Amino acid sequence: MKVVMIGAGYVGLVSGACFAEFGTEVVCVDNDKDKVKNLINGIIPIYEPGLEDLVLKNVNDGKLIFQNDLQAAINDVDIIFIAVGTPSRRGDGHADLKYVYQAAKEIGENLEQYALVVNKSTVPVGTAREVKNIIRRINPDLKFDVASNPEFLREGSAIEDFTNPDRVVLGVENQRSEKILREIYKPLQKIDAPILSTNLESAELIKYASNAFLATKISFINEMSHLSEIVGADITAISEGMGLDERIGSKFLQVGPGYGGSCFPKDALALSRIAQDHGVNSKIVDAVIQVNSKQKNRMVEKISHALGGSLEDKRIAMLGLTFKPGTDDMRDAPSITIISGLIDQGAIISAHDPEGVEEAKKLLPKNIKYSDTIKQTINSADAVVLMTEWDQYLELDLKRIKEEMKGSIFVDLRNAFDPDIMEDIGFNYFSVGR
Ligand code: UDX
Ligand code: UDX
Repeated sequence: MKVVMIGAGYVGLVSGACFAEFGTEVVCVDNDKDKVKNLINGIIPIYEPGLEDLVLKNVNDGKLIFQNDLQAAINDVDIIFIAVGTPSRRGDGHADLKYVYQAAKEIGENLEQYALVVNKSTVPVGTAREVKNIIRRINPDLKFDVASNPEFLREGSAIEDFTNPDRVVLGVENQRSEKILREIYKPLQKIDAPILSTNLESAELIKYASNAFLATKISFINEMSHLSEIVGADITAISEGMGLDERIGSKFLQVGPGYGGSCFPKDALALSRIAQDHGVNSKIVDAVIQVNSKQKNRMVEKISHALGGSLEDKRIAMLGLTFKPGTDDMRDAPSITIISGLIDQGAIISAHDPEGVEEAKKLLPKNIKYSDTIKQTINSADAVVLMTEWDQYLELDLKRIKEEMKGSIFVDLRNAFDPDIMEDIGFNYFSVGR
């Protein structure tokens, strides 16, 4: 089988490398010339554990190739995956499909024999049919099929999620398409990974509904954390107490500064817009979005309260910037809103992140001091804020931290530390929901 993967970003590069590892010949096509040049030279543009080794191994085995030009790549291809970005459209929050449609157009212009065209990018319901119409209009005589095969990859564990998935979802129109897709996922038979075959619209909606439900769990526990603080409850006990009910499950019930990333924020908004476009309510999804935004602003108030109600000229050391550990991705990271809010109230920010500083510099206010070491970051700080629960921070020598700081305030936005231990060390310790 030969696969062409259009888009070599977080989704396309991981998926392409994993399909190559499954034994398929993969050509990753990307219109970013620098990105392709770097990939050919073994330079991986994103931080994803295990990805560099997987890419280099399959490039060396000749099973993974990178190219700029779709026309050259598309000869005798069996499956073409569209894995380009589908960002939130500026202003209205709809998924921006211009890159998906551009890819469909190029496929229509270059494909000369039967192939299965598969949307892997997260796209609104009906997009697979629109891709079909675009190709059909450009090349009315071409024999091809379309399918939807959404990804459920978490950044930081994307390879594990691909090679050991909870499920594979196939949105297909006929047996031929299903057979081709089952063939390429054949290696997963070894681990009995469930393969769900359904129609195009259901596959597209499963993806949005899954992400929106996971975001709902997070916003639910974050909303409970506010009530928890008021009534004197402990949100970690609430998460545990709820999670022990198998019908609820303990995952995605961890309180935090709000969810971020390139998926939950954009997918929840896109789902709300899809409902709106079809004249139906999305009250729950809309509330999830609002609660998430409130949680980020509540963190600014929490930090201000911890510093006595005024942030003017206060020095705050921010540990972690990325939307979660294990990635360099800063897309919609809560730190962007929270740090901007702190600076607006006069705070002076020094920041550290193991992987995200380069990306952060593009998105955060310019007057932030970035330090290479945690020691430099916290030196003479009035307060330390734990934003992202990287292992490096969880293993800190907290006594040393206390000595290096000027003040003694520690605001833990991930409830990563034990309040009693923090108080014993002498911190004035604040956390979320307890
Ligand atoms: C993103 C979202 O994270 C994911 O949820 C959604 O399913 C698809 O969009 P991601 O891989 O993170 O996926 O996108 P990104 O990292 O932006 O990569 C997209 C790649 O496609 C980029 O490398 C870009 O250069 C490339 N691209 C974009 C093309 O090759 N052709 C185009 O026309 C547009
Ligand atoms: C998510 C989905 O998990 C994945 O299935 C989908 O394909 C893409 O979107 P990702 O965005 O990479 O993956 O990260 P995830 O681990 O889901 O975390 C998303 C955000 O939620 C992060 O900001 C994280 O800090 C936050 N989160 C997660 C919580 O605040 N609490 C939790 O319990 C879990």
